[in-house]
Amino acid sequence: MKIDGQHYRTIWQKPGEPEVIQIIDQRNLPHELVIEDLRQLEDFAKAIKEMHVRGAPLIGSTAAYGMYSALLHGPDDKRRLPKYIRESAALLKDTRPTAVNLAYAVDRVLAAIEAADSREAKAELALQAAHDITEESVDHCARIGKHGLPLIREISERKGGAPVNILTHCNAGWMACIDHGTATAPIYRAHDAGIPVHVWVDETRPRNQGARITAYELLQHGVPHTVITDNAGGHLMQHGMVDLVIVGSDRTTRRGDVANKIGTYLKALAANANGVPFYVALPSSTLDFSLHDGVAEIPIEERSADEVRYIRGMRNGKIYEVLLTPVDSPAVNYGFDVTPAELVTGLITERGICDANEDAISAQFPEFSRQKPA
Ligand code: MRU
Repeated sequence: MKIDGQHYRTIWQKPGEPEVIQIIDQRNLPHELVIEDLRQLEDFAKAIKEMHVRGAPLIGSTAAYGMYSALLHGPDDKRRLPKYIRESAALLKDTRPTAVNLAYAVDRVLAAIEAADSREAKAELALQAAHDITEESVDHCARIGKHGLPLIREISERKGGAPVNILTHCNAGWMACIDHGTATAPIYRAHDAGIPVHVWVDETRPRNQGARITAYELLQHGVPHTVITDNAGGHLMQHGMVDLVIVGSDRTTRRGDVANKIGTYLKALAANANGVPFYVALPSSTLDFSLHDGVAEIPIEERSADEVRYIRGMRNGKIYEVLLTPVDSPAVNYGFDVTPAELVTGLITERGICDANEDAISAQFPEFSRQKPA
């Protein structure tokens, strides 16, 4: 996608210095576009943990390139190498617990490098695996766009061409992926096809990925949108101002329970109560067939309470952080919640749209259905 007319992805090899990986440091958006160099394993782990990069598919790709970087600088001694690889993988996997794409990507690199013996040859294979994961993500997001487009077109036709109002939560846009996004892919596709759309963007406290990043993306692409407080969605739905909800996912279980950014569940409840279709867009790298009951089994990240207590923004060209709460009030910061499958109208994946239940998901991904729950 484009920023100020220039095409970007969210992660790439540095031109002229291919052993360095570059990312957009998303903590500074929308006010500053900062490109960061990642040079060694610890840089990758920090970038994921401290959310310079975020979003399930993007943290997967970043971790895969992190394994490549680890191998570039690892020991040549074949007795020490296996332990070093195990520890590097564990460091990356431990950065964030909820999005399964992270573990998926690290495990895929681990499987790929088994074919080689030397550190150098393993590094080559790790780089290829990271590229494959990244290119696959772009392709899957593009396909999600193609499969989601008819949903928007149908509503547009029903409304006689009046704008289709779509509500989204957090940032499941191209900044959360490599390109296109998951929830945003059908929206970009519809907009590019000339279908009038308007997006309600939940601000998504505490880190405001909606207000900061989704709004930025949509603005850059010229998609009409309005930022709303996280509490506004139910009111808008009651008044017929939302035609469709599309959100992303960080982990979806074999029966279709969806972990996504905290607050998604409340939107699903409101959509259900008001007869608004609620779709979840996700690539298959977000499916976790080892889990069944999402509420009981998906690990929910708990982040620093200071993300709730403070808020960050720009004033007179400078970025400040200010305290919102009484100094002594405790706060708690759950990063995600789980929307039970019954509240999900359908899943939009790279293979099409399916119901959120085990039979439908297994029919779409028969290769996963052979995996047994843990
Ligand atoms: O905490 P984040 O920003 O990494 O959260 C992940 C997300 O961006 C969302 O939950 C998103 O909807 C799923 S990722 C496409």
